[in-house]
This record gives sequence, C-alpha cells and structure tokens, in this order.
Amino acid sequence: MASILGFGGYVPERIMTNEDWAALIDTSDEWITTRTGIKKRHFAADDEATVDLAGKAALLALEDAGMAPADVDEVIVATDTPEAYTPDTASFLQHYLRCREVPAYDLGGSGCAGFVQALDVARARLLLEPKRILVVGVELISRLMSWEDRSFCVLFGDAAGAVIVAPDGGPADLLHVVAGTDGSQTDILTLKTGGTRHPFNADSLASGAFNHLDMDGRRVFREAVHRMSQAVVDVTQHAGKAVSDVDLVIPHQANKRIIDAVQQKLGVGDSRVFTNVHNYGNTGSATVPFALWEALGQDRISAGDLVVLTAFGAGFHWAAAALQF
Ligand code: ACO
Repeated sequence: MASILGFGGYVPERIMTNEDWAALIDTSDEWITTRTGIKKRHFAADDEATVDLAGKAALLALEDAGMAPADVDEVIVATDTPEAYTPDTASFLQHYLRCREVPAYDLGGSGCAGFVQALDVARARLLLEPKRILVVGVELISRLMSWEDRSFCVLFGDAAGAVIVAPDGGPADLLHVVAGTDGSQTDILTLKTGGTRHPFNADSLASGAFNHLDMDGRRVFREAVHRMSQAVVDVTQHAGKAVSDVDLVIPHQANKRIIDAVQQKLGVGDSRVFTNVHNYGNTGSATVPFALWEALGQDRISAGDLVVLTAFGAGFHWAAAALQF
C-alpha cells in the first residue's frame, strides 16, 4: 500500500500574459487562446533555477505532511529542465533542503509524464522497505526554450509540484498506477540536440537547433487524447473501480483542447475535470502535482473522493494514478 502524506506547489511570481508575448513576437491573444486555452503563464526570476522551484514546492509538501527535511528517506525528481546537465537536480535538492544522505535521483527525459511515472517508482520502492519519499515534478522551461519560436514559446510556463509518499497514514491512498511507452514515436516530440546522436556544437548553436523542439502537433494531439483517456480507464479498472466512480480527473495541462477531447472520450462532466492551463500554460512534469495541490486548495477534492491523475509526454510515454481520498 502507498499513501500520500502531503502536497505542495510553487509558481514563480513573474506573470507573462498573451499580450506580453504579442508585444515581443508575431502572435496574438486570439491565436493562443483559441488553439490552447492559455491566457498567461509564470516565468522564473533571473536568480531562480530549477532547484529553487522544486525546493519551495517540497517545503510546502513537507509542512503539509507535518515533516521536516530530516524525515525524508528518498528523493525523486521528475524534470526535463534540470538544474545542471550533471549531476541531477535531486542532488541539488537534497542539499537545498538539508535532507540526510539518502538516495536521490532524477527521472528525466519523459517529458510531461515524468511525475506520474515517478509515483509508480515510489510505490514500487515501498514494496522493498517502508520509507517517506519526496516526489517532485518541476520545470523551468522559460530558461531553455527559444523565445523566438512562436510555435512553442507561447505554450509553456515554469512551476513545481511535490508530494510525500509513504506506506500509510496520509489523506490519500495511492490505489494503483499504470504506465506505458511507445518508443516508435520518439520523433513526434523531441529535442534532439545535446545527445550523443546530435551533439551540441558550433553548428547547432549557429542554427538554433540546440533549443528547437521538433513536434508533429497533430500526431501529439491524437496520441495524447487516446493515451490519457485509455490510461484513466485502465487505472480505474486495476483499482477495482469504474470511470463513473471517478470524482475528479486531473489531466496533464498541455492544452485545453486536448483536455476537452479527453473529457469527451471519458464522458465526464465539467465538474469532474480539473483545468488550470489558462493560468499557467504547460509546465511539463509539474502540471499534474501542481494542479493536484491547487485542486485541494480550491476544495475541489473531499474526503472519500476518487481522483485520477493522467499524463502523456515525449517518448511517447503515458501514465495514470488512482488516488482514494
Ligand atoms: N501565433 C500566431 N501564429 C502561430 C503561432 C503563434 N504563437 N504559432 C504558429 N502559428 C502559425 C503557424 O505558423 C501556422 O501558420 P501558416 O498556416 O501560415 O503556416 C499556423 O499558425 C498554424 O500552425 P499549426 O502548427 O498548424 O497550428 P495548430 O492549429 O496545429 O496549433 C498546437 C498548434 C496548439 C501546438 C496544436 O498542434 C496542438 O494542440 N498540438 C497538441 C500538442 C501540444 O499541445 N503540444 C505542446 C506540448 S507537448 C507536451 O505537453 C508533452
């Protein structure tokens, strides 16, 4: 059994609206709103880096769980925008929080599915020994993306979300997690440059390839809807429930149109789907834990509720988790 003891979330103060983008590049509030539902997003301050966002969300989750950093037995960070190329963000976070010398590691590269995959890893780690595991989803995308590529820059924001996973004793039981990968679709969403196949060099710097995301928007859209909705069906079934039992679905917040299509496929009403993409944009692996934290803060979740988290990401990965409050 696994249980969630505490929840935390953080967004940087600086707000970037669609109008702010329209003043910088050839875009408009109308284009961004109709295609994505996004109205604004938060960007980190110049002196903030990934560990600052992760640390602030983690401290709130610890406080919510009634724990101190010294009580943490393991740290898992899901991110595609790490503090450094090496070592991993989890090492920086262990030191930032002054945790004990516990295992700490990143789950990187799985894009926006990373946090839910990390919940699956945490759940499995508990089968070996009882622990209190800090699980964080964090992205600081604004620092690494191109601010000139209008197809992408308007979509993203910066944020962090965190939870504490333990064998029992929290307000939410983690009933089940499903996860899957279709590696034949690495090409539909990829930032190639910087890896061993396409090393970072003077050419990639000159061409701008180093921060260019290749995306087949239509295929990503189709896969996202199919995989996220099927993952909700699968995880509820494994948990011995049905989709009709689910009180709230918290999907990855990439795009309002994707969320609407998932909602339609699942046949659930507006009150049973949580959306905050209009306020924060796509914050990668942070969207799900941050939305979970915000849903709790807005009293959208009550004791007894069945909540399902569902996400997709570059890979192509998908994952869903069923939580019984
Ligand atoms: N402002 C104004 N015009 C723009 C902008 C912009 N910011 N960006 C692109 N355009 C233009 C294009 O240049 C193109 O112009 P053209 O027809 O003259 O060539 C036109 O708008 C249409 O571009 P498309 O890329 O076809 O736009 P589309 O309607 O497909 O919307 C979007 C793009 C929103 C990304 C869509 O493909 C989509 O929803 N994809 C799903 C995947 C997704 O959300 N990915 C992001 C995150 S990935 C993840 O979370 C794991």
